[in-house]
Amino acid sequence: MMRSATDATPSGKALPQPILPSQPLTALAPMQDVTTRAFFEVIARYGAPDYFFTEYFRVHATSRLEPHILESVTSHGTGRPVFAQIIGEDIGHIERSIEELLQHPVAGIDLNMGCPAPKIYKKNVGGGLLRDVAKVDDLLRAMRAAIPGLFTVKMRIGFEDTENFAALLDCVNRHGVDLLSVHGRTVKELYRSEVHYDWIRFAVERAEPAVFANGNITSARTAAAVARSTGAAGLMVGRGAIRNPWIFRQCRELFSGQTVYAPTLADVRHYVEDLWAANLRPDVEDQAQVNRMKKFMAFVGQGVDPEGAFLHDIRRACGSSDFFAICDRHLLEEGRAEIPFACEPYPGVIARPNREAPQTCSL
Ligand SMILES: Cc1cc2nc3c(=O)[nH]c(=O)nc-3n(C[C@H](O)[C@H](O)[C@H](O)COP(=O)(O)O)c2cc1C
Repeated sequence: MMRSATDATPSGKALPQPILPSQPLTALAPMQDVTTRAFFEVIARYGAPDYFFTEYFRVHATSRLEPHILESVTSHGTGRPVFAQIIGEDIGHIERSIEELLQHPVAGIDLNMGCPAPKIYKKNVGGGLLRDVAKVDDLLRAMRAAIPGLFTVKMRIGFEDTENFAALLDCVNRHGVDLLSVHGRTVKELYRSEVHYDWIRFAVERAEPAVFANGNITSARTAAAVARSTGAAGLMVGRGAIRNPWIFRQCRELFSGQTVYAPTLADVRHYVEDLWAANLRPDVEDQAQVNRMKKFMAFVGQGVDPEGAFLHDIRRACGSSDFFAICDRHLLEEGRAEIPFACEPYPGVIARPNREAPQTCSL
C-alpha cells in the first residue's frame, strides 16, 4: 500500500510537517559516530533534511541513555524533528529506555533492525533480529504499546536472503508502525553490494506506513530516480550526505523544478572547515583530530578529483597544518576553487576505511 507523507499514519497520527509539502520526504540516515549534534547542525546549515535520526542508543540490562547521543535530541539547533534510534532485543529493557526517551523532545522512537556488525547481530539485535520473525512480532507489539507517539522502524531486506521479508513487513503492519526505512541490502551484503531497489518497491507495496528508501542515494538525481522506481514516500541519505552536505537542498530544488545549486571546490573547502570545527574536541590531540577528519574526507574526496589525488594526500596528512595545506592545495590553489564539486562520486575513487591511514606520524 503506497502511503504519502501527508496521509495519516497507520496508527492514525500525523508525520511531522516536511520543509516543503508535496515533495518526497528526505531524512539524514543514522550513522554511528558521525551523526552527532554538531554534524546535524552542519548539515542543517547546508540544507536540512525533513527529518534527522540519531545514531543508536544501546539498550541492555544496565544501559542508560548515552549523554552524547541524547545531546543530538535535546540541544541541536536544526529546527527539524529528530527521531531517536534504539538497538536492543529485551522487551523490559526497551520499555525502560522508551520511558526515558519520552522525557525528551523526540519526534519519534526508531528501532534498529539492520546493523550488520557481527558483534551486534550475534547478540540477536540490529540486523540479527531479522532471522526471528516471532521475536520481531513480540518486540513490535510491546514497543507499539509503550510509545504513544510515532514509532518507526529501520530495517534491511533480510539477514542472509529475503525469505523473511514479507513476514517481517506483515509484523510492521500488524503493530501500527508509523514510518518504515528500508535499506535495500541484506545484513550479509553489508554496505557495498548493489542495492535491491526492487525489494524496496516490494516494501512500498506491502507495508502500510510510508517508506523511506535507503541505500546508495548519492545525488539529487539519484534520489529522484529512486523515488520514481520504488514509489517510496521518502528518501534517506547517509554517506551521500557526508560527501555532499548540499544534497537535501539540491533534492528540494530538483523536485520543485528550480536550478540545482552546484557547489565548487571552494565551497568544499568551507565545508571542511565546518566539519573541523564541529569535530573539535579540546581534550583530543592534534593528530587524533586529523585522523577523525580522515573518516569524513574519505567520502568528501570522492567528489574532488577523478584520480583520487586529494584522498591519496589526505590519508597521509600529519597534523592539522599539513591537513589544511593539503586541502588548500587541492581545493583552492592554481584555479581549483572554481572547479565544480562532482555531483556523483568519481567511479574508482573508493572511500576506504580510515585504518588504511598511517597509524603513526613522524611529525
Ligand atoms: C559510519 C556508519 C554508521 C552507521 N550507523 C548506523 C546506525 O547507528 N543506525 C542505523 O540504523 N544505521 C547505521 N548505518 C547505516 C546507514 O544508516 C544507512 O542505512 C547505510 O549507510 C546505507 O545508506 P547510504 O548508502 O545512504 O549510506 C551506518 C552507516 C555508516 C556508513
